[in-house]
Amino acid sequence: MQSLLEEILDEVRPLLGRGAVANYIPALAEVDPGQLGIAVYGVSGKTWQAGDAQTPFSIQSISKVFSLVQAIQHSGEGIWSRLGYEPSGQPFNSLVQLEFEAGRPRNPFINAGALVICDINQSRFAAPTLSLRDFARRLCGNPLIVSDAKVAASEYQHRARNAAMAYLMQAFGNFHNDVEAVLHSYFHHCALRMSCVDLARAFAFLAREGHCLHSDEQVLSARQAKQVNSIMATSGLYDEAGNFAYRVGLPGKSGVGGGIVAVVPGRFSVCVWSPELNAAGNSLAGIAALEKLTERIGWSIF
Ligand code: DON
Repeated sequence: MQSLLEEILDEVRPLLGRGAVANYIPALAEVDPGQLGIAVYGVSGKTWQAGDAQTPFSIQSISKVFSLVQAIQHSGEGIWSRLGYEPSGQPFNSLVQLEFEAGRPRNPFINAGALVICDINQSRFAAPTLSLRDFARRLCGNPLIVSDAKVAASEYQHRARNAAMAYLMQAFGNFHNDVEAVLHSYFHHCALRMSCVDLARAFAFLAREGHCLHSDEQVLSARQAKQVNSIMATSGLYDEAGNFAYRVGLPGKSGVGGGIVAVVPGRFSVCVWSPELNAAGNSLAGIAALEKLTERIGWSIF
């Protein structure tokens, strides 16, 4: 596995320079675009890594999986009265469908859906930002995980689209807490900084039928873990979920910081990071690396 990861990074390195780092959040645009890392965490607890696998980066939308899991933990199937689990076929920050569908987001991974999940968690936790950070720390066993206050502030300053979604949902009666307070929590979740190694470890419970090895915690039931994986497979990469299924064939979740996490149920979880994105807002070299990985190991969920 070790030499395979190094080979894959060497093969995708020529793609660096072909994408563009996210700049709609100005603080994210400051990242060095030439970085590339990958980490694999096997279900029995072994880690393999290559490249910049230990460099923390902004996890952005990858945090939406953590907040969804928290919501499932305390509210179970009840959350589906507020949003769906169908793919949207639209960009992650689209407002169009939300108006047509009366303020009920298609799924928890587009921004509108993640905001509803944050609203649900806001009603439940006294300090939602800290609860999510501590949850991420527990899942990966790294007590040093923190949220980048500068990135969160930059997102808040440029919040117009996310705020528009949240206020539209409020107008439809599908938002219960103060919009600005929920946006604050959401941006702090997105601004968490974690490395490929941290994220591969943190997602391992989804490859282990809901059980987290370090904390020896049953995070979700096996059935709930399967459900989260299925939503990642159909919506984790937004309007590029079909391309990701076709090329990679695994449940995955991307973020505009350039990270992508994928799960091989029963075998391992993997995180790849390269900050330059393609037109759909997903890591360009990251998708290519995962495609090579599933090709080489000859395994996908399909
Ligand atoms: O709300 C936003 O737009 C960002 N904080 C997160 C978007 C994101 O990561 C989309 N993923 N590819």
